Amino acid sequence: MRAPPARRAGTPDAGEFADFSARVVRWQASHGRNHLPWQNTRDAYRVWLSEVMLQQTQVATVLGYYARFLERFPDVRALAAASEDDVFALWSGLGYYSRARNLHKCAQEVVERFGGELPCTAAELETLPGIGRSTAAAVASLCFGERIAILDGNVKRVLARALGFGKDLASSANERELWDHATALLPTRDLHRAMPRYTQGLMDIGATVCLPRNPSCLICPVHSLCIGAREGAPQNYPVKTRKLKRTAQSLWLLRARRKDGAVWLQKRPATGVWAGLYCLPVYESRDELDACLPPRARVRDAEPFVHVLTHKDLHLHPVEVDVPASWRATEGAWFAADAWPALGLPAPVRRLLAS
Ligand code: ADE
Repeated sequence: MRAPPARRAGTPDAGEFADFSARVVRWQASHGRNHLPWQNTRDAYRVWLSEVMLQQTQVATVLGYYARFLERFPDVRALAAASEDDVFALWSGLGYYSRARNLHKCAQEVVERFGGELPCTAAELETLPGIGRSTAAAVASLCFGERIAILDGNVKRVLARALGFGKDLASSANERELWDHATALLPTRDLHRAMPRYTQGLMDIGATVCLPRNPSCLICPVHSLCIGAREGAPQNYPVKTRKLKRTAQSLWLLRARRKDGAVWLQKRPATGVWAGLYCLPVYESRDELDACLPPRARVRDAEPFVHVLTHKDLHLHPVEVDVPASWRATEGAWFAADAWPALGLPAPVRRLLAS
């Protein structure tokens, strides 16, 4: 029996992976996702919008938001001309609101710096607000066939497993090394056709085959090359040691209501939790909230609940109170029952107001 070729951890044999990209491209055409609304177009505005919405968000959630957003803002100029409040309103419930703020800023820069057309290279795209290395590469490869690697969370998993890349991705030097491997694996021919399929194919394998816990290795187009599968433990990759330091915070939400159903809302500061969104007045203690209530107010404590953010668990304590029409908090305004639904609101606040 011949000994397997010698391989140091993290240094895949180039020969062995020579047809990696061709397998991904072929598989994408027959088994990948080809009918999502942001596909079958090379309109960079549509692709960019989808990529930003799809960061940290599932396809099924994005579909409705994507359609509504495009209907309202069909091109970069329409988005650039909108108010930030209008953009937030259409983003409301998608979470990670800095994406919406950057999207709006980015559209304005595209108009100012590029005459309303998104630039067609990853290097230029990366100079725009909210467009990181992987998003720039996704747009440039999907729309313009640029030979450039993406490396989002799903693709890191696919490549780390395929290559048996066992170095800790918490280290930026190791992550850079994986970027280099990702670049070495790219198609080299017929780029205009191959690159969009390759980029989409890696995303599709990550989302539908090479799942974090239960990968479907037997239907994977790169199964026979995959070092993680050969070792019998693809789940061992990728290695990432740094754990998110989670914190918890308790907040009291004042739901002040007038007889006619209007609610009092405030715009959140530009930084911090729910930055820039409209929200019920938020207090860090019950005493602080009580101090804002009119004397002899009839107060009802609603059921507290936990809302999970990326780094933080928010323990939310809603407090309901009926107030006279003359009541005011220090900041904010009354919003009629038919006006607040159109505002950009944090998802838990919207649910609370609808209840
Ligand atoms: N996630 C990120 N980009 C995607 C795309 N183009 N299609 C499906 N899921 C994605």
